[in-house]
Amino acid sequence: MAKANAKRIEAGKGGAKSPTAAPAAGPAPKVRTATLLRMKREGRRITCATAYDWPSALALERAGIDVCLVGDSLGQVVLGYESTLPVTLDEMLHHARAVKRGLTRALLVVDLPFMSYQLGPAQALASAGRLLKECGAEAVKLEGGAEVAASVEALRLAGVAVLGHIGLTPQSVHALGGYRVQGRERAAAARLLADARALERAGACAVVLEGLPGALAGRITRALAIPTIGIGAGPLCDGQVQVWHDILGALPHAAPRHARAYASQFSEQVRALSAFAGEVRQGSFPSARETPAP
Ligand code: KIV
Repeated sequence: MAKANAKRIEAGKGGAKSPTAAPAAGPAPKVRTATLLRMKREGRRITCATAYDWPSALALERAGIDVCLVGDSLGQVVLGYESTLPVTLDEMLHHARAVKRGLTRALLVVDLPFMSYQLGPAQALASAGRLLKECGAEAVKLEGGAEVAASVEALRLAGVAVLGHIGLTPQSVHALGGYRVQGRERAAAARLLADARALERAGACAVVLEGLPGALAGRITRALAIPTIGIGAGPLCDGQVQVWHDILGALPHAAPRHARAYASQFSEQVRALSAFAGEVRQGSFPSARETPAP
C-alpha cells in the first residue's frame, strides 16, 4: 500500500508526461471473484474478515482487506443469539445493506442463513436473488458439501457467484454434536475432500474450510483449482477469514482458540463509557467549551 502510494506521488511529479511513461497507479482495483482465483494462482494470500455494519465496513476497506463477509455469525456476535440458527434472511439483508454502503474495493460476500436454501435449488435461487438485488451482494456463501452441489450449480447457472463452506458448519451444530473440529478420522477426511471437489465441480468460486486439521486443509487446498479460505484450519489455505469481534477483542468472553485478538476493543469501550459516566456524575462534562454559546 505504502509502495503504491509512493508510486502515485512519484507519477504525479515532473510536469509533462512522456508517452512511454508507465501509467500512474490508480486506486487499488476492485476485488472480484476472478481476483481470488488469480491470487491463488500467484500464491498471494487472500484476506477476509466479517463485518456487520457501515463503520466496520469503512475500517475494513481502510485496512485493505480483500473480502468482506457478512456472516450469519452476526446472530451470535451482534444479535446475542446462542447460535446462527435463528438468523433470518431479512436480518442478513438489513446488515448487508449497511455494510455495502461502506465498501468500495472489497468483494462483498453474504451468508445464506439457516433454512434459506436447505429446501433445494429453487429456494437457494430465491434467497440468493434477494441478497443480490436488495443489498448488492457480489457472492453468496452456503454451508455443506455434495448435498448442496445441485444448489451451487443452479446458482452458478443463474449467474450468482457462490462460496462453499465445509468442515465445522455452524448451521449443523446440533447434527455435529457441538462446535468440534471435523475430519480427524480417515473416512471423514476423505468425505470432506470429496465434498470440496463436488463444490468445485458444481461451480463454487471458493470454499471456506472451517475447523479442520491443518494437514487436511492443506491437502484440500492443493487438490482444488479454486481458492480455500480457512478459519481454524491452519496456515496452508489460500486465505484466512476471521470474525470481526475476535480480531478486535470486541466481546467480553474469550475468543475461540484459532483466533488472535489484535486489539482489546471491549475493555476500551468499557473504559471510555465509564469515564463518560464518571464525568457526567461529577459535573465535569459538558464543560464550557462543549456548551453552545448564548
Ligand atoms: O458466519 C461467519 O462469520 C462465517 C465465518 C466464520 C466463515 O461463516
